[in-house]
Amino acid sequence: MKNILSRLKRKLIGTNFAVQAAAVNPNCRELEINNWVISEFIIQRLAPVVGVHPYPINEQCLMVAAVCALKPSMIFEWGTNLGKSARIFYETIQKFKIDSEIYSIDLPDNIEHAEHPGKKRGMYVRNLKGVHLFQGDGLKTSLSLYHNRMADLQEGEQNSPNAPLFFVDGDHEYGSVKRDLEGIINAVPEANVLLHDTFFQSSESAYNIGPYQAIQDVVKSASSFKILRQELGLPGMTLLYRKPERHL
Ligand SMILES: C[S@@+](CC[C@H](N)C(=O)[O-])C[C@H]1O[C@@H](n2cnc3c(N)ncnc32)[C@H](O)[C@@H]1O
Repeated sequence: MKNILSRLKRKLIGTNFAVQAAAVNPNCRELEINNWVISEFIIQRLAPVVGVHPYPINEQCLMVAAVCALKPSMIFEWGTNLGKSARIFYETIQKFKIDSEIYSIDLPDNIEHAEHPGKKRGMYVRNLKGVHLFQGDGLKTSLSLYHNRMADLQEGEQNSPNAPLFFVDGDHEYGSVKRDLEGIINAVPEANVLLHDTFFQSSESAYNIGPYQAIQDVVKSASSFKILRQELGLPGMTLLYRKPERHL
């Protein structure tokens, strides 16, 4: 009896109840969240800080869901811009007690880009523990950080980390999104990838459907991904994920 109680106690101590309430049925085939738990968190804690631009509520749901269900040990995202997406990831890992580090990258100050944030870069995440800001090309910088981090972990012989999550929100052109997505998949085959500005509409809208098209073209040859889309209207967000095998 005493043994059973102490085993139960050990199990309970290691249980993360916060994330269990948010991401349910981890042993089933599909990613599933508790929409009420996530909605409450977004309305009460996230939206008051980050508002609904550039990420409307439905897209914040997908970002929070991806982090809670996939529990990435590392999150790589570009571009940082003001730091709203990094802040969404930060608040999520805090609230749901997920062991994760965030690496956010934007272009160097001397590179011209219509959306470059200048001095406001990362203002929503400055000095937050576990959020690391870098300047460089998003893909190259994040892959180099990822490989360095993996080499450190191997030296320290720690348990293998959960698959990283990449959030691609840089250039929004067909060519750059295709390059980023292929680059991630080739270098880190187990990665999960979230992409922004991926809404599809027919040509009468004159929308930029480059990111949507790039995803379509890349996933044709990477069919093991499951796909979740928040695509009711602009800007649109797509999650390409793999359910970890141990969960099946
Ligand atoms: C739409 S904004 C990203 C919004 C941001 N995630 C937020 O939370 O508000 C696009 C950003 O991507 C950056 N960018 C464009 N190409 C990039 C690249 N190759 N690597 C890193 N950042 C890039 C731009 O400088 C700009 O700040």
